[in-house]
Amino acid sequence: MLNFNYYTPTKVVFGTAAEEKVGALVKAEGCKKVMIHYGGQSAKKSGLLDRICKSLEDENIAYCMLGGVVPNPRMSKVYEGVELAKKEGVDFILAVGGGSVIDSSKAIGYGIANDCDPWDVYCGKVEVKGCLPIGAVLTIAAAGSEMSDSSVITNEEGWLKKGFSSDYCRCKFAVMNPELTYTLPEYQTISGCTDIMMHTMERYFNMCENMQLNDGLMEALLRNTMVYTKVLLNDPMNYDARAEIMWAGSLSHNGLFNAGNDGGDWATHRLEHECGGMFDVTHGAGLAAVWGSWARYVMDANPARFAKFAVNVMGVEPAADDAATAVKGIEAMEAFYREIKMPTSLTELGINPTDEQIEEMADKCTGGDTYTVGCMKKITKADAIAIYKMAK
Ligand code: NZQ
Ligand code: ZN
Repeated sequence: MLNFNYYTPTKVVFGTAAEEKVGALVKAEGCKKVMIHYGGQSAKKSGLLDRICKSLEDENIAYCMLGGVVPNPRMSKVYEGVELAKKEGVDFILAVGGGSVIDSSKAIGYGIANDCDPWDVYCGKVEVKGCLPIGAVLTIAAAGSEMSDSSVITNEEGWLKKGFSSDYCRCKFAVMNPELTYTLPEYQTISGCTDIMMHTMERYFNMCENMQLNDGLMEALLRNTMVYTKVLLNDPMNYDARAEIMWAGSLSHNGLFNAGNDGGDWATHRLEHECGGMFDVTHGAGLAAVWGSWARYVMDANPARFAKFAVNVMGVEPAADDAATAVKGIEAMEAFYREIKMPTSLTELGINPTDEQIEEMADKCTGGDTYTVGCMKKITKADAIAIYKMAK
């Protein structure tokens, strides 16, 4: 087991009507003016935004609003947010939405607190010294940004999607009412469940020492999430299933499962980000589309780990050796993806990149072949090309 630090400062307010407490939560942060940041239509249509505004008004908290964040959030909106926040003297950002809205808020927060071009943060050109405080009202269980230290932004200039992590951006609070996710389209619900599982799987697949307790917790989270994902397919208004998934989303990505290991592989995420950046696909579905190909490509680096996953998570019978068990586990996961209507290839994802585009994706994924991604195998540009081709 490796040494670790565990820091998860976000206050979680979970359950029915949790959003009614948002005014009091913001007030407790002692800020003067809030920017409510939100997405396209859903929060407006459901009446959630009106309830949030009322909750702030009840506490006499001044606010301005900026909507229009799109999935795979863009730098143009971040720049708009920085400008508005400066003009309005905003000192707190309230993100009402999912990972895209929360990540856009984090990028705006970095731009203001560091008085810099926020894209430079994502390019590693700025030594980050802070972030404007952020609170989240979560409307989709997926990215885990409500408790994570990361954010991912797409720059339309070059269609580059880049992530950045620091504890500065961790939300002060996360308001999580599972009922707010009832209105999600099925595809978003299930893509979210897939992303949640992948945040745990990225950490589970590593090449270092592990902690038995955390291995067991991760395996339980994955089994539980598979059960409730299937429940939601048939019964999307099932409160308990929504709650199980929502909490799994936060635990998968708040750092708990980094404890005792090196933080995990993350190559599947890095490979997917180029699909999101260039083709604007839904993140969770993109992960499902490339995971099987990644797994087959790297499994011989650590068949024992894949075999443990196969038996303890996918419930397969051990085969003649670890490698054979590992393959059965990968096949079982792909069968699960098909059952929940997730893609297992880029074609099923709805994209058909040309060889030139695959080369570009692999190039972006590895910084022009200047670094590798993942730890099970260190994926070079040539490896990334091979995996994308396998995933077609
Ligand atoms: O814009 P609206 O109208 O709200 O529609 C959204 C959007 O189209 C809709 N939606 C959200 N809540 C809804 C709803 N529709 C109906 N009812 C509701 N209650 O869902 C769509 C997707 O929203 P989005 O915020 O994009 O989803 P998600 O939370 O999956 O976030 C995806 C983004 O997060 C990044 C991804 O790369 C992607 O850009 N990630 C962020 C991470 C982090 N910060 O830690 C980690 C992840 O690995 C991930 O990379
Ligand atoms: Zn993810």
